[in-house]
Amino acid sequence: MLTKNEIINLLNTTDEKVLFKKADDVRHQFVGDEVHLRGLIEFSNICRNNCLYCGIRKGNGKVIRYRLSEDEIINMARFAASMGFKTVVLQSGEDLQYNIKKMCYIIENIKKFNVAVTLSIGERSFEEYKAFRQAGADRYLMRIETTDKDLYHKLDPDMSWERRHECLMMIKELGYELGSGIMVGLPGQTIESIADDLLYLKKIGIDMAGIGPFIPHPDTPLKDEKGGTLSLALRTMAVMRLLMKDINIPATTAMESLHPQGRIMALQAGANVVMPNVTEGEYRKFYELYPNKICVNEQPRQCRTCIAMKIESIGRKVGTGYGGHNNKQPIKL
Ligand code: 5AD
Ligand code: FES
Repeated sequence: MLTKNEIINLLNTTDEKVLFKKADDVRHQFVGDEVHLRGLIEFSNICRNNCLYCGIRKGNGKVIRYRLSEDEIINMARFAASMGFKTVVLQSGEDLQYNIKKMCYIIENIKKFNVAVTLSIGERSFEEYKAFRQAGADRYLMRIETTDKDLYHKLDPDMSWERRHECLMMIKELGYELGSGIMVGLPGQTIESIADDLLYLKKIGIDMAGIGPFIPHPDTPLKDEKGGTLSLALRTMAVMRLLMKDINIPATTAMESLHPQGRIMALQAGANVVMPNVTEGEYRKFYELYPNKICVNEQPRQCRTCIAMKIESIGRKVGTGYGGHNNKQPIKL
């Protein structure tokens, strides 16, 4: 167990190579050399929220909005499963059009492909989370974004930090594997606050930690802010690995958007998961949370081949199982 001061010192390290090596060793020892792939489907970019940092915020009138039908989503998941993905992640803006009936139909049908299903659709009611879980959803991703409540309320107007925390607690209580995480480099965010974030994630007992740099989007109020660096994002991720040795940690797409080797660097600094995009057709470029998003002109097969090559090039292997935390198998309630 690291103290807050120790965490701060590690985050501030001037010798990041040592930190990354240590995180890489812990990763090797506790979760092994397999890299688990999750096929990401970005199924709707319609969002009721107006987060200042996010490219698909409600207030961004320049976005071409789309919403995939239930059967389009199921078909994309079928294709992902046929390419060997053992987990499908369904992500969208907070789009309430996908009600209990629609989401359960989607989840139940995707579960027929023998994949783990992860949802990343934001804040919902207990009743909804429960219904999705009963329909077969295994995991849920929702970043807390920051534990600095003042900063959170500045960045996410009309949203409540406490409400988000409660959602995470409900998700855990329902037996989902819980993924959460933060952005680093938010305007006004301090190293001390990042240390608090990491301690929070440990305290609530997450199964997966997604950590990425904040990248200012030109069509948002934060367009002139500096954004996070790859270095700080990697250091934060590496410290997370030291704090929670056996959880799943993705090499995030935002990291690769800042550097062509971003994900490879992450995989060698504590990460053991990659979430390649399996959204088909034109939609990827409309799901632009931040600029310079990678793979917008690729199709699922290309990303699958590309990432497998990258993983093998550093002597690691693509995972063959579901890749749950502690090898937990997907279970139906
Ligand atoms: N830069 C980096 N990450 C972002 N996200 C949203 N907007 C941005 C941005 N401008 C992240 C948030 C969200 C996740 C899906 O994407 O952390 O939870
Ligand atoms: Fe999409 Fe490399 S992961 S092209």
